Amino acid sequence: MTQKNSTEDLDVSRLSADKKLGHLLESVVREVKLYAEGQIEHIQKLAQIGLALSGQKNLNTLLEMIVDEARKLSSADAGTLYIVEQKSRSLRFAILQNDSMNIRKGGAGGDLSDEMPNVPLADEQGNPNHANVSSYVALTGESVNIEDVYEAGAFDFSGTKRYDAATGYRCKSMLVMPLKNHEDKIIGVLQLLNAKDPQTGEIMKFHADIVGLVASLASQAAIALTNTQLIEDLKALFYAFIKSIATAIDAKSPFTGGHINRVVSLTMDVAEAIHGTNTGPFGEMRFTDDEMEELRIAAWMHDVGKITTPEHIVSKTNKLEGVFDRIHLIETRFLLILQLMENRHLRVKIDLLKTDNSPAALKKMEAMDRELQARKAEILESLELLKAVNTNKGMVDERAVKQVREIAARTYHIGGNAYPWLSENEAACLSILKGNLLDEERRLVEQHAEMTINITRELPFPDRFSHVPEYAGAHHEKLDGSGYPLGLTGDQIPLQARIIAIADVFEALTAPDRPYKRPMHISQALKILQEMAAAGHIDGDIVRMFIKQKVYQAYADKELTPEQLSTA
Ligand SMILES: [Fe+2]
Ligand SMILES: [Fe+2]
Repeated sequence: MTQKNSTEDLDVSRLSADKKLGHLLESVVREVKLYAEGQIEHIQKLAQIGLALSGQKNLNTLLEMIVDEARKLSSADAGTLYIVEQKSRSLRFAILQNDSMNIRKGGAGGDLSDEMPNVPLADEQGNPNHANVSSYVALTGESVNIEDVYEAGAFDFSGTKRYDAATGYRCKSMLVMPLKNHEDKIIGVLQLLNAKDPQTGEIMKFHADIVGLVASLASQAAIALTNTQLIEDLKALFYAFIKSIATAIDAKSPFTGGHINRVVSLTMDVAEAIHGTNTGPFGEMRFTDDEMEELRIAAWMHDVGKITTPEHIVSKTNKLEGVFDRIHLIETRFLLILQLMENRHLRVKIDLLKTDNSPAALKKMEAMDRELQARKAEILESLELLKAVNTNKGMVDERAVKQVREIAARTYHIGGNAYPWLSENEAACLSILKGNLLDEERRLVEQHAEMTINITRELPFPDRFSHVPEYAGAHHEKLDGSGYPLGLTGDQIPLQARIIAIADVFEALTAPDRPYKRPMHISQALKILQEMAAAGHIDGDIVRMFIKQKVYQAYADKELTPEQLSTA
């Protein structure tokens, strides 16, 4: 019985021990489960953050996101993101956030460099700045976790204390992390301040598990930052490159300086207007950011083909201009003709004097002199006419062209050989009724549109910019099919190319193309646009919107002269 009793007692105590162990195990499992769930949640959160960070193309938004997410993850009241500036060996304030102080600065909100001077990484002698905690982290790559900055003696927090005294804030716990990129290079520093207890809101230290999470976030952030930075750098380099080509092309002619730049500005004004309009033919039309950028690149590159057009043709300002203006050759030739005439005249006079010096002979010679003067005056008059036709200063009409042809048909003689007063090409150039270009030269100029397509097609644009060659190369196409290089008609010409075409024409009409010619009044330029639309050359819907919504106004205010805009 006793034994039984003792066995029973044993069983009861074992049962109670088993129960205790069961409870303990249960609570351990629960704890482990909770911990594991918490970790999974953190990992999922980190993965989400990683995805969001790597998908962010805008650098400023990305910088803000990094601080936002790190603060959320660690319940930090404030956060600062510094970027390492290699050139000045310093840390630049990129983002400054403080919930309690209601501060949100930097990033998309604007540059902080005026307000917050950079933190130097070294002193003037080149000694590393280990006194400042952010600089220390940037230099050593070590993380720093401080429970209370007022108690920490390793770093100089006098600035922080001064800030607290001035604002009433109290900086306490601090976590400072380096941002290392894929090459293990430190590109920034993330500083989190005052971790808050999610339940009580009390300031606490940054716990070890949070430090690990923030470290993971920091490394993802560093990679996203490097990628975005690289993309932005490439973009900046690409734009600098296309702008330098544009400058080189515009510099080919002294009268088209800034043409491409201005066409870009007008193109984007028109595109913005189309994008923003809710009524009429463009009421539904919207451009994505990528489409806007694609159009901007196309506008920058629309005349890139001119790189292959001979300079003397692009900048041909007089009819006889080649590598130099051949009017000077004609001038010299006419002086030679005058000289030859005078020589011949003198020879005849000498011969006459040798045989006869009677009063009758002298009278004859006087008559010869008068005739010589008259012929010389006639030649000089012809030269003046040619000069005026060459520079388009004179009236270049059918009558003037007929006179040019008559002059060209005359000859002078040297050593028994006859030479024309004007070469065939000179006569052809001086017979151009409109402009300065011969047909073959005009064809060369027009070739630039085809060359624009060829050149831009060779560039490996990403998919989102794949239409650049199509848009850039069609800016001289006309809706009625009379344009070039492909003679496209109507819907074959994309809207983007039609926009560039109108910007191109409006810029050319209103630009001062000759120093001595007054630039066209805006009302006349708008009238010409309407006429071109009515003739089926450019898009009437865009022209109507351009005029009705005064899309040209901002451009006109910036680029045109007061005379061009006068209402009198
Ligand atoms: Fe062009
Ligand atoms: Fe152009």
